[in-house]
Amino acid sequence: MIKKTVLSGVQPTGDLHLGNYLGAIKNFAIMQNENDCLFCIVDLHAITVFQDPNQLRNNTYEVTAAYLACGIDPIKSIIFNQSQVSGHAELAWILNCICRMGWLNRMTQFKEKSGKNSENVSSGLFTYPTLMAADILLYKATHVPVGSDQKQHLELTRDIAQKFNNDYKSPDFFPLPEPYIEKEISRVMSLRDGTSKMSKSDISDYSRINLKDNKDTIVKKIKKSKTADMPMPSSQEKVTQMPEVNNLINIFTGVTSFSKQDLITKYEGQNFSNFKNDLSDALVEKIAPIGDEINKLMKDKSYLDQIMREGTEKARNKSELVLKEVYDIVGFIKA
Ligand code: TYM
Repeated sequence: MIKKTVLSGVQPTGDLHLGNYLGAIKNFAIMQNENDCLFCIVDLHAITVFQDPNQLRNNTYEVTAAYLACGIDPIKSIIFNQSQVSGHAELAWILNCICRMGWLNRMTQFKEKSGKNSENVSSGLFTYPTLMAADILLYKATHVPVGSDQKQHLELTRDIAQKFNNDYKSPDFFPLPEPYIEKEISRVMSLRDGTSKMSKSDISDYSRINLKDNKDTIVKKIKKSKTADMPMPSSQEKVTQMPEVNNLINIFTGVTSFSKQDLITKYEGQNFSNFKNDLSDALVEKIAPIGDEINKLMKDKSYLDQIMREGTEKARNKSELVLKEVYDIVGFIKA
């Protein structure tokens, strides 16, 4: 069996939360057992919005620590910092020359992030998806585990890969990468509003569970989370019409081995206090040790440096082979 190549990344822009874990990082740890995996800390992406340099450094260590704390094994997977492998920026330039303005203009995440301010955001934010395509194609990755908010960027990556292969008459040079998106848990929603995504940019800390939240904070946040004025309904169909309840059930399934139906059957007809107590317990059991481990690892920067250094070396070696082929296909002379 040919091993798949898996690549994904997380931005070092501040506290990681349950959405990052359930939508992405948890799957990284599972996929590393069967595949060749690369997981990067995408600092080049982070600076598309201004980052305080000290904060950026700290956040980069923190994502590295979170990867390890969530079970990514540096022996099985390559963990590295994007800016330290120059091929990402180099390939991004070439892909910028492949990608069409019209394609980028359709990106909903850019529209959301730039809002009414689109004239005044960085051009890096606009071309962000071509850098993401470069991250993936630089290793000819075939599978990309992400939350559903990244689906459109993955579709663009496939379009870019296809156009490169066509323009340069190099069929099958870049594989067309497949997103790996878990159905129920690919979009974890805010604890305060089941119609908006859990996000680090939400002003209310009560909208999310951070991976570094301690036991008491997790319990408090779940206690305050929004549910519904009626008891737990009896069917999945009815639950789907209650966005906050649906979200909490999805979260519950993400941190335990219960299915959605198991949980509905267990709590049907009850108000939400027992459900919330049990959900808190499950979250504390899963998330609090991750937070403790992140805090512990953050005290040993030289270990985190070593992890990134070794990963960078491996990523660089792999990337150079592909970049060399790309340069040759494009017609750049190596004198
Ligand atoms: P980022 O840093 O915003 O988020 C990291 C990962 O977490 C997922 N995620 C969520 N999943 C479910 N529910 C949520 N509420 C939630 N919030 C975030 C994201 O989908 C993502 O998988 N562009 C990417 C980083 C990136 C990348 C790449 C990913 C750069 N290059 C190459 C894959 C491959 C981003 O901004 O993720």
